[in-house]
Parts: sequence; structure tokens; C-alpha cells
Amino acid sequence: MTRVAVVTGGTRGIGHAISTALKNKGYRVAANYAGNDAAAQQFQVETGIPVYKWNVGDYDACAKGVAEITKALGPIDVLVNNAGITRDAMLHKMTPQQWREVISVDLDSVFNMSRLVIDSMRSRNFGRIINISSINGRKGQMGQTNYSAAKAGMHGFTKALAFETAAKGITVNTIAPGYINTEMVAAVPKEVMESKILPQIPVGRVGEADEIARAVTFVAADEAGFITGACFDINGGHYIAL
Ligand code: CAA
Repeated sequence: MTRVAVVTGGTRGIGHAISTALKNKGYRVAANYAGNDAAAQQFQVETGIPVYKWNVGDYDACAKGVAEITKALGPIDVLVNNAGITRDAMLHKMTPQQWREVISVDLDSVFNMSRLVIDSMRSRNFGRIINISSINGRKGQMGQTNYSAAKAGMHGFTKALAFETAAKGITVNTIAPGYINTEMVAAVPKEVMESKILPQIPVGRVGEADEIARAVTFVAADEAGFITGACFDINGGHYIAL
């Protein structure tokens, strides 16, 4: 059976790697994106994966997107909540808008998308919901009260929904990447990266997006039905929490 997977923020960065890894494993994949049309078109041409544009922070837009994908590819078996943004600032400089934008895209989206696929997953007794969190939702990070709060919120959501859905063949897990070689991490000031962050990574380098994607395909698999409510820290030893 060919499973259908949706990856939010699936055309760039970690999402790009997740979309292509799932496709290479035989899934029918749809990649959502919000803003960068040029990158999305290039991604679609290069990978052959269809792209769908909407803002995952907007419930009604998510409803339209999910309906469109379901019509084109079939009911969604695997949802990867990957879309995320940063608006870094110390709290004493953070604006209400910086707070709201991050909570909307990084956390409201997880409710929106999960809510819109859950009925179908329950009725088919199968589903995989994989939430891409962050090391900074686990350990906190200066300049990221908004992002750390949103990412930490994902862990609570994951654990609660894992309980709700376990008897229905639906697993819910979190993957918490450390600093990965993406545009998002490239935006961290160079001096901060070199003096404050890299020295804290025991492996001695940032990670690659493919190193996250292979964990996603692992938990997405039909054979992974006993893994639920779990968090996979993939961070080069930057934050070791057992
Ligand atoms: N650890 C320790 N100290 C830090 C620090 C860090 N990670 N980041 C900044 N500081 C220190 C600075 O050195 C500075 O100290 P001094 O006053 O002693 O010089 C102080 O905090 C204030 O820093 P700035 O002068 O840079 O203040 P700012 O208001 O201009 O910016 C900041 C503060 C927003 C935190 C900025 O430094 C920054 O962007 N830091 C990086 C934050 C970060 O790691 N974001 C992760 C983005 S990637 C991502 O989110 C993906 C993921 O999931 C991992």
C-alpha cells in the first residue's frame, strides 16, 4: 500500500530533506510551503513532489490545503509538522508581533494540521504524526522565549495526543533537532555561532538535514507502531537528556 505523507514547510531546509527521504522510501508526498515561491518551484521541478501553498498558522487555510491534498493524493497517513520560523530577540526587546508570529506558525500549526487529519486517521486505524521540535524547546535558548515556548509546547501536545490515539493505531512522536546546516541556523550571528554555540556541540559540527530526515522515515514506518509519545534528540550531544 502506498502511504500518503504531508510535510509542512516541506520545500526548504530540514523539510526539503524529509520530503525527499519519504519519497525515496515510496511514500506519495505533498510538500506545503508558505512564502518562497521560487524555492518551491525549484523543489517541485527537482524532486517531482507537488507543492501546496498556505499559511499553517491559519486553520481555514489548513482545512483547504488538507482537502486539496486528500483529493489529489488520497487520505493522509503521515503528517510531519515541520514548518517553523524564528523571530529571535531578548524578551526585553521582543514585540507582541514577534511573539505571536512564532506561536502561530510553530505551535498553532500543530493543532491545526493534526486536528484536520485526526478523524480520517482514527477511522482508518492508522496514522503517524511527527512533530519537528528543537533542542531549544528542550533546553531553552537566549533570545528565543517565543520559539522555545512554542517548541516546548509541541512536547506536551505530543504526549497528550499519543495517549489519546494509541489504541487507534496512530503514533505521535517528536524529533528535536539541534543546530542543523540550514538557512535558519545560518541567520544566527556568526560571532554567537562561533563563540557560544559550536563549542557546546561535542560532535564538533552542526548537523545535516538528512540526519534528521532518516529519523523521520524511521518513525513513519508501518513497523514503528510501538514507538509513541517519544522524543528523539538529534543534536550531536549538545543537550543530553535521558
Ligand atoms: N549563549 C550565551 N550568551 C549569548 C548567546 C548564547 N547563545 N547569545 C547571545 N549571548 C550573549 C551575547 O554575547 C551578549 O553578551 P554580552 O552583553 O556579555 O556581550 C548578550 O547575550 C546579548 O547579546 P547581543 O548583544 O547579541 O544582544 P542582541 O539583543 O543584539 O541579540 C540574541 C541577542 C537575539 C540572543 C542574538 O545574540 C542571537 O540571535 N543569538 C542566537 C540565538 C539562537 O541561538 N537562535 C537559534 C536560531 S536557529 C534555530 O532556532 C533552529 C533550532 O531549532 C536550533
